[in-house]
Amino acid sequence: SVVRISDDSLAKACGADALAAAFEKAGATVERVSSWGMHWLEPLVEIGGRGFGPATPGDVDAILDGSSALDIGTIAEHPFIAGQQRLTFARAGLTRPLSLEDYAATGGWAGFERAKGLGSEKILEEVTQSGLRGRGGAGFPAGIKWQTVARAAGEEKYIVCNADEGDSGTFADRMLMEGDPFALVEGMAIAGLAVGAGHGFIYLRSEYPDAIAKMEGAIALSAEIVAPFKLEVRVGAGAYVCGEETSLLNSLEGKRGEVRAKPPLPALEGAFGKPTVVNNVLTLAAVPHILAEGGASLYESLGIDRSKGTMPVQLAGNIRHGGLYETAFGISLGTLVNDIGGGTESGRPVKAVQVGGPLGAYMHPDRFDLPFDYEAFTAAESLIGHGGITVFDETADMGAMARFAFEFCAAESCGKCTPCRIGAVRGAELIDRIRDGGRVRDRIELAPQMHNTKTAARSQEDEVQLVEDLCEVMRDGSLCALGGFTPFPVMSAMRHWPEDFGLERKV
Ligand code: NAI
Ligand code: SF4
Repeated sequence: SVVRISDDSLAKACGADALAAAFEKAGATVERVSSWGMHWLEPLVEIGGRGFGPATPGDVDAILDGSSALDIGTIAEHPFIAGQQRLTFARAGLTRPLSLEDYAATGGWAGFERAKGLGSEKILEEVTQSGLRGRGGAGFPAGIKWQTVARAAGEEKYIVCNADEGDSGTFADRMLMEGDPFALVEGMAIAGLAVGAGHGFIYLRSEYPDAIAKMEGAIALSAEIVAPFKLEVRVGAGAYVCGEETSLLNSLEGKRGEVRAKPPLPALEGAFGKPTVVNNVLTLAAVPHILAEGGASLYESLGIDRSKGTMPVQLAGNIRHGGLYETAFGISLGTLVNDIGGGTESGRPVKAVQVGGPLGAYMHPDRFDLPFDYEAFTAAESLIGHGGITVFDETADMGAMARFAFEFCAAESCGKCTPCRIGAVRGAELIDRIRDGGRVRDRIELAPQMHNTKTAARSQEDEVQLVEDLCEVMRDGSLCALGGFTPFPVMSAMRHWPEDFGLERKV
């Protein structure tokens, strides 16, 4: 029977290519498929539905003769897979990414075909009814955004897919593009029908060469199917801020990736000044399912309150079972980290969990009851963001993580507004001073030319107050989320782990 091994870049980084070659050498027929998303088991070998992993070329003979100790049983029944509700990732592990045959055989193009018959107004209605919200992080209702573009004046409109996945610990966009690229093509073509756009761009980061190749391959293979809708990939040059939609649009147009002030919203004046839908990969890839018969009602029936449908959660960092876990909104953070993720890889207690990338708050385990829900997270001064969860064990130094948040912001700032450009540098200095008990004045590594040596001695308490004031200014005065959200990791770290800053815990 056929041996199936993923060609996802994570599996390849873990040795999938050498493993596939070893199976071929042993006379087996190998099929390269997408990844199931159980990263700790990659490279995972599937034979007749049974899984073996993580496998090396040395395991080939034992796997083929049925004596391998790496046998994990039927993959589809593995608790990590069986517990999921996969809509966006329904094909994960099951299809050859660039096979039109596999795509069509698993319901591909059903949404697009139906959408063609429905026409713009009905598509907009169904996407709105489904409750789909922007999966890039902000959670803005996709249907409302599409309506704004559809009703905007002008003949020329664009669909832009934000595939600049810059958050640390996230990989769902990459997995989708590498594993199921036609789903993104289909979602964008449906968006084109809905708003009257004939051209789409996928803005993809240069750090994702495999995803670039897969998307380009998929666009070429499906060009006739989605015609006259045209798609092209534009490759970014590696700036985190280019994931911010207006900066992305500047970069896409060949300009410097600097943030634009909003308004005007990209929905009204986006790419090349035309009305533009800018959506994340996961938002667009959820659309084919929603447009297929009955999809919108199913989507709406999942989740809680205003967080509808499913979220592809990404479990990363110091975690035993890292990978992609798609589930309906409402699941608790503790269930995701402890039950599904199996706690830390090191076996030590969990100290902190950062949700939503480098701009997300550090959550203390005493908040593990928090349900995955946009509004619940906002109320807890945190964010779901792109659904990345990064786990830290008790050895983590949260003072250093707070400093890192400022450092990251300083390094990635586009420089357009003062709270972010200067605030981030000052913030890193302040954290150093607090951690030095307000004594040391000249150990600043970051931007030493900006260090004000004339600063009068201040108490540690004053320095803490300054960080709080600075965070307030950054939050309220920054033009985009980079400067505006950096206070989340900083303030949450200071609040929950004051001892890591050399501060006394307030009871
Ligand atoms: P935002 O709240 O300003 O906008 C959300 C989206 O809704 C935008 O596309 C905006 O143009 C659109 N919008 C707002 N009002 C509208 C209206 N009346 N009509 C039509 N469209 C409208 O949020 P922003 O700054 O775009 O994104 C911030 C989020 O990005 C954060 O929550 C963060 O989680 C996330 N993020 C994601 C990263 C990733 O790698 N995926 C990296 C960094 C941040
Ligand atoms: Fe640029 Fe930072 Fe201002 Fe955003 S907050 S516009 S990244 S300077």
